[in-house]
Amino acid sequence: MIPLIAASVLSADFSRLGEELQALSAADIIHLDLMDGHYVPNLSFGYPLVQCIRKHTDKALDAHLMVTNPEAYVDPLTEIGVQYLSFHQETVYHPHRLIQRIKANGIKAGLALNPGTPLGTIEALLPDLDFVLIMSVNPGYSAQSFIPNVIRKISELDAIRKQYYPELQIEVDGGVNDTNSSTLINSGADILVSASFIFKSDNYSNTINSLKGI
Ligand code: DX5
Ligand code: ZN
Repeated sequence: MIPLIAASVLSADFSRLGEELQALSAADIIHLDLMDGHYVPNLSFGYPLVQCIRKHTDKALDAHLMVTNPEAYVDPLTEIGVQYLSFHQETVYHPHRLIQRIKANGIKAGLALNPGTPLGTIEALLPDLDFVLIMSVNPGYSAQSFIPNVIRKISELDAIRKQYYPELQIEVDGGVNDTNSSTLINSGADILVSASFIFKSDNYSNTINSLKGI
């Protein structure tokens, strides 16, 4: 199966963001890493930049919230026009309620799972989720090394969703490159996020196609 590629602009050259977005024509989705300097040590960007990105691409926007108060971001990001929204379950008391709120806004709701968090912790939420974002690095930075243990988690989730939730999408985020992409796809990944592997390359389309295996 050919996966969707979500290009994370975290590694883009922000001084030439318009050109960078144009060069991502082969990508299916634009992945937005919102970091608040509290949940993760890094600080990335906020609404003004997301608005600017919305104006310069027609692709679906996928906001990955690495913030301690994801509830506050749902309505502003809905107004800007994102299509996917994920948050980390340990950042909220009531993840089920927040998933319903995101879906009520007409957005695909996802839960992000850190490398050290077992799949079992989100099992009760799977019926309500549109996608699970499996982190294959610890959140906070691009260009970190892929953590191979997560492959087992992807396979486990793939087996569960095949049996019970065939519509659930599996997104994998962190350290994705052309040496691990085929294993990730074969394990069940539907969406591959990539920042540094795309942006450090000379030809983004060729690099994205190499992740798709085409
Ligand atoms: C990490 C972010 C990732 C990151 C991926 O906290 O969630 O989306 O941008 O970067 P690479 O592909 O370079 O590992
Ligand atoms: Zn991300």
